[in-house]
This record gives sequence, structure tokens and C-alpha cells, in this order.
Amino acid sequence: MKELLKKIEEKSAIIGIIGLGYVGLPLAVEFAKKGFNVIGFDLNEEKIEKIERKISYIQDVSTKDLTSCVENGKLKATSDFSKLKEIDCVSICVPTPLRKTKDPDMSYIISAVEMIKENLHPHMLIILESTTYPGTTDELILSEILKNGYKIGENIFLAFSPERVDPGNPIYKTHNTPKVIGGVTPNCLKVASAMYSQIIEKIVPVSSTKAAEMVKLLENTFRAVNIGLVNEVALMCDRLNIDVWEVIEAAATKPFGFMKFLPGPGLGGHCIPIDPHYLSWKLRSLNYNARFIELAGDINSHMPDFVVQKLGITLNKFQKPFKGSHILLLGMAYKKNVNDLRESPALEILQLLFDYEAIVCYNDPYIPEIKTENYSIKSKILPDKFYIKENFSEKYVIPEDGEYFDFRKIDAIVITTDHSCYNIRELVKETEKNGGIIFDCRNATKGIESQNIFKL
Ligand SMILES: NC(=O)c1ccc[n+]([C@@H]2O[C@H](COP(=O)([O-])OP(=O)(O)OC[C@H]3O[C@@H](n4cnc5c(N)ncnc54)[C@H](O)[C@@H]3O)[C@@H](O)[C@H]2O)c1
Repeated sequence: MKELLKKIEEKSAIIGIIGLGYVGLPLAVEFAKKGFNVIGFDLNEEKIEKIERKISYIQDVSTKDLTSCVENGKLKATSDFSKLKEIDCVSICVPTPLRKTKDPDMSYIISAVEMIKENLHPHMLIILESTTYPGTTDELILSEILKNGYKIGENIFLAFSPERVDPGNPIYKTHNTPKVIGGVTPNCLKVASAMYSQIIEKIVPVSSTKAAEMVKLLENTFRAVNIGLVNEVALMCDRLNIDVWEVIEAAATKPFGFMKFLPGPGLGGHCIPIDPHYLSWKLRSLNYNARFIELAGDINSHMPDFVVQKLGITLNKFQKPFKGSHILLLGMAYKKNVNDLRESPALEILQLLFDYEAIVCYNDPYIPEIKTENYSIKSKILPDKFYIKENFSEKYVIPEDGEYFDFRKIDAIVITTDHSCYNIRELVKETEKNGGIIFDCRNATKGIESQNIFKL
């Protein structure tokens, strides 16, 4: 252990990152920026090629940082897993999606562990970062390593450390977000803490890998449940004819005992809609029904239906059926200022409006094109006056070969994601001028007076 600790402290330890996505690439760059030699592993050749060509495909990784790490030889990317033999500390950052049955899909972790096992050598540190159910590190990794005859905490080290990255967050990045770590043994914790403290300001040790796995699930379940609660408050306010946004704003003035969550068209992203199901799945195997998770999941997953239903009722008041109405969805990413479409509720709203035969299209400057099994559509172009240029994040794309949205035909604009780059005031003015309504799922029209604005 002493030798590995010395290597980490001297930054001569070679760091491996398996899975170069939203989590893995920022982590790899952070280690490389601190002077470590980093090898990133991925099955996706396109991503490897982009790294070699110094093109960042992750919004939170600047091209400038990536370029300097690649040019000074600190960061390399490969799909050749035999290079794991050179690695001292390896972090697994592969996806943990749900199957259609809502059961965890552990195949990515299993395959990454298989690669590590084939290239395992003494004094290696392995850390799992992927979000998963409590017990995974022990059940899927420890048991495999022990088969090779290693002594955990003596000549091999294993820990779980959840990733907390919040894509698009301008303040909290990898280096200043405290890192929770649980080791299989105290020595495992010591080595893993030594590694992360090289790039992260604050380490939060916990007593076991299971506790660390549960911390992540508590954090994301907390968000899913509170969003579920506030979405239900929105449904109740709708029945009571009360403005839910006004209620939340006022409640949020309480300086203690209240934390502000906002309703919206539903949950999205790779974490909040998925992670709590890892916990409820595990609990089901222990004959326990995770009721809050199930209820929040039910409410959140029905929000797109509610949006479409309320939009339909609103259009109906103007004698407009869905069929044939021109509807523009504004913002398709699952949250503002990011280019991540995974699990985005706007996709479900789009599909429902297609089903109702509306003439529906979208604009999202971060998502130039959407391709699914059923359709392939491009973002409509909006004239410059509808954007606030200084609010664009680095990665926006205005498609050159796309079509302009024709406001003269507009029946409704639905604000599904309130990217900061939208000039909402101008959009409202133009929509109103052309006799369309604005259906605002995010309270982006706050402070704008118009008879044509309707809110969630
Ligand atoms: N995206 C987030 O905001 C976020 C935040 C916290 C935690 N997490 C968790 O981190 C994990 C990774 O999420 P992500 O968003 O980075 O996913 P991602 O899909 O962006 O990236 C995962 C990468 O792993 C690669 N991959 C898949 N199988 C592989 C294998 N066997 N070997 C090597 N590479 C492989 C994929 O090609 C992909 O590039 C998940 O468990 C997720 O829940 C994500």
C-alpha cells in the first residue's frame, strides 16, 4: 500500500477511467490537469477519435482544457483494454440504465469488471463511480477480484465513490464538489481518499461501500420525491385554480424548514428518473415496498400527459383542436442550458402531440437534430432577436441547413425547457401578435403580462 500511496502523492500513479461520458471525461481531464498520466477507456470509437482530435463532446469540458491535456500527452484515449495492465488506479464510470421492465441493467458494470479482471495486477486500486444499488461493489466486483486470489486491503484496493456532477452547473464542478468515499476496508478507503484528494477539495469518508452507494441513492431519491411532491402540488393548484408558481415563491421566503423545488413537465436526465428505481428494485428483493419512490415515480411520469391535456383544454377555448394546430416546443433538453436529451419529458410531449396529429416542431439551440425509431427532425431556426446571445453556453449549434419557424402559422408555443438564451419577452410578443398562445411549463414568462400566456 505504501508504494501505491507514494505514487499517488508524487503523481506518478497512472490513472485509468473506464467510460468517457458525462462523468468519466471531466474526471479524466481533472486528473490530467493536475499532472497525472491518464488513460481513458471506451468502447465508442467515435469518442476516442474526438478526444484524439481534441474535440470536447461534453459541455462541462472546455476544448481548451482538453486540448492542453492531449497536447502535453497527459490524456490518452483507447479501446484497447489490455492497457489496463499499466494502470495503478482505475475508476469505472459506465452507464447504469434501467431495462424496459425497470430492473437495473448491470451489464455495463459487469463487462467493465471483466476487462479489469483480465488485466488485474497487484497494488491496483479499483473504484466504482456509476450509480447503483447498495451491495453492488461487494457483489459484482469484490467477489470477482477475490477469485484471483488477491487479499483485499493488502495487495488490492476497492472502493465506491458516487459521482455528483451536475452538468451545466456554473459553480460546482468536479474539483469543488465534496466526494463521498466508502472503502471495502480502511486501507481501501485510505488509498481511494488519497487519490481523489489530489483533484477534489473535500473528501467525505463513510464506513462502507454500501453506505456510499446508499448516499447517492438518498440524494437522488430526495430530489425525485420532492419534485414529485411539488408536481402534485401543481396538479392540486390546477384543480383549485391557484397559481402554483406564486405559492412556491411565497413559501420559499421562509428562511428555515422549506427547500424550494419547482414543478415542470416531468423528470429527465440519466439520474433522477432512474436511480431511485435501483433502490426500490433492491428493496423488492428484500420484500420491502419503497412507497415514496413508487408514488413520486408515478406522479412525475404522468406530467407530460398532464401538460398535453392542459394544453389541449387551453387550445379548445380558442376553438382549436390539436389536429392541424401548429405547435412549437421550445427547449428539448431535460433541463436548461444543457444538450442532454436522455429521458427528457419534452420527447414524450412531442410524441403525444404527433399522436394527436398536431403539426409539431421544436427549437433547441443545443440539440440540432432528434432521431428516434419513429422520426427524425431538425431544430427549427429562430431569428436572432429571439436569443440573448451572451447567455448561450459554449456548445450551441444553429443548423445551417435548417428551416426557419414560421410564426405566421403559430397556434401555440410550449416552453418545455427554459434555456437562458431565449428572449422570452420577444417570443411572447411575436406569438401574441400572430394569435398564438404561450403554454409555459417552467414559469419562464414570470413578470410578462399577456392574455395569451397560460401556465402549468
Ligand atoms: N450524467 C450525470 O449527470 C451523472 C451524474 C452522477 C452520476 N452519474 C452516473 O454515472 C454513470 C455514468 O453516467 P454518464 O452520464 O457518464 O454516462 P454516459 O453514457 O455519458 O457515458 C458512459 C460511457 O461509458 C461507455 N461504456 C459503456 N460500456 C463500457 C465498457 N464496458 N467499457 C468502457 N466504456 C464503456 C459508453 O460508451 C459511454 O461513453 C451512471 O451510472 C450514471 O448514473 C451520471
